[in-house]
Amino acid sequence: MSKKLIIIGCGGHAKAVTDIAIKCGYDNIGYLDDASSVDNFMGFPVLGKINDASKYSSEDFVVAIGDAKIRQKLHIEFSQKGFNIVTLIHPSAVVASDVTIGDGTVVMAGAVVNPSTKIGKGCIINTCSSVDHDCVIGDFSHISVGAHIAGTVKIGNNAWIGIGATVSNNIDIVADCLIGAGAVVVKSLLESGTYIGIPAKKIKQS
Ligand SMILES: CC(C)(COP(=O)(O)OP(=O)(O)OC[C@H]1O[C@@H](n2cnc3c(N)ncnc32)[C@H](O)[C@@H]1OP(=O)(O)O)[C@@H](O)C(=O)NCCC(=O)NCCS
Repeated sequence: MSKKLIIIGCGGHAKAVTDIAIKCGYDNIGYLDDASSVDNFMGFPVLGKINDASKYSSEDFVVAIGDAKIRQKLHIEFSQKGFNIVTLIHPSAVVASDVTIGDGTVVMAGAVVNPSTKIGKGCIINTCSSVDHDCVIGDFSHISVGAHIAGTVKIGNNAWIGIGATVSNNIDIVADCLIGAGAVVVKSLLESGTYIGIPAKKIKQS
């Protein structure tokens, strides 16, 4: 039987999400995107604009937009309307059996999530990143490609941990933090903002 998925967004992130969806058995994919000028993407039809979503309300949905604020807005809107927002995990990701993962979160190829970790909704656990044991990752956060989060780390909502960044163990990072590419966080970050470098220091208020 055909397995149908509506993907919101037709950008680079949606490409990776499409590949995971196919590997998870979806064979009937359609896109809704307000900016797309093409009628076909990754071999599947662009069905219309985001406002057309109600036509497909009985299907599985995922918001595949990298921008966290837009992803969050649409995710909440669709959840409130009762749409079935799915979680997608690439078959090559290693996720421990007691890990909990919220709706709309996508776990990319080669990611590792270790035991007793809780990942919120609408997150991106990107390619080859790792989140070790007993972590809590807040809603709509993005653990970028190759970032590593050690054990017992708590990251608030809407955080963006940049590519190749490292967070040492037993650390709390408040909501709305952006950790720059390659940064190393060695102390808890108690104020929101942008942090870069080794050790990570704040350069900007968010
Ligand atoms: C931290 C970051 C958000 C800053 O972006 P920005 O506000 O546009 O800042 P700028 O690019 O203007 O850089 C400001 C200064 O900080 C330096 N800088 C920027 N990012 C840095 C980083 N990650 N580490 C060290 N220095 C950095 C710049 O070289 C520049 O220094 P200068 O003033 O001496 O020239 C951005 O550089 C970054 O790291 N983004 C993460 C991207 C990412 O992880 N993508 C992954 C997608 S999967």
